[in-house]
Amino acid sequence: MLTIQSIAELRTQLASWRNQGRSLALVPTMGNLHAGHLHLVEQARKHAERVVVSVFVNPLQFGPGEDYDRYPRTLEEDRLQLEAIGADLLFAPLLTEIYPFPLAESTYVEVPVITEILCGAHRPGHFRGVTTVVAKLFNLVQPDVALFGEKDYQQLQVIRKMVTDLNFPVRVESVPIVREADGLALSSRNRYLNLQERALAPLLYQSLCKARDAIVGGEKDFVALSRQAMAFLENRGLQPEYFEIRRTDLSGATADDRPLVILAAARIGATRLIDNLSVP
Ligand code: PAF
Repeated sequence: MLTIQSIAELRTQLASWRNQGRSLALVPTMGNLHAGHLHLVEQARKHAERVVVSVFVNPLQFGPGEDYDRYPRTLEEDRLQLEAIGADLLFAPLLTEIYPFPLAESTYVEVPVITEILCGAHRPGHFRGVTTVVAKLFNLVQPDVALFGEKDYQQLQVIRKMVTDLNFPVRVESVPIVREADGLALSSRNRYLNLQERALAPLLYQSLCKARDAIVGGEKDFVALSRQAMAFLENRGLQPEYFEIRRTDLSGATADDRPLVILAAARIGATRLIDNLSVP
């Protein structure tokens, strides 16, 4: 596996693969890879002949006071894991390679409306940071296909919208959430949890399952269901941010809409977790 830090070197290598007619998949990540990321890489293998994984902790998608500084950076471990599962190229640029100019003076990409709800309402500027860096990565790598995890469900919809609106010649593939045995969705942020917090964390998934079961069982009052789920989480020591039942394009749902997606975010101590579950 090649490990490349510079854009110039990346472009030379990718041009040579493209000249050989190789198709390219990109798996963008912020590193600290877990089984969920590795699953993305494995799926990428099925879609293209060369798999590029980027590892870049993107400052633009963190708000003031968020965890940019303490976000786990484990590049050497990541590199070994990627090599072991047969990724072809690890692109791990320095901050100055991606943002050579002051961020406040740089161009950004912003998808309106869909970024103003759910996580976007609680993390102003977050999705602007995501779409800006993903657009840059798409331009740098020019992949045929890019893979994203479904845990970040809203991110996935935002990126799909950006790809459509800006005519990126990239196919976006999503990969289902990988969970721990107790239901907790894998996330790099899980490592912030202490033992007590870790014991509470699966409640987020449990709250989603309860709501899904209620809907499947015929419950039609989504407002009441959301309120009950928020109370369920609060009463057990989590600080829920939102719990919403929406159509799969994230527009508002009425009781008879199907399929649906239930999305939730909650803090446990200082750690913010998100999760979602679909209702077929
Ligand atoms: O999902 C992530 O890890 C990040 O938001 C992404 C897509 C790599 C952009 O920095």
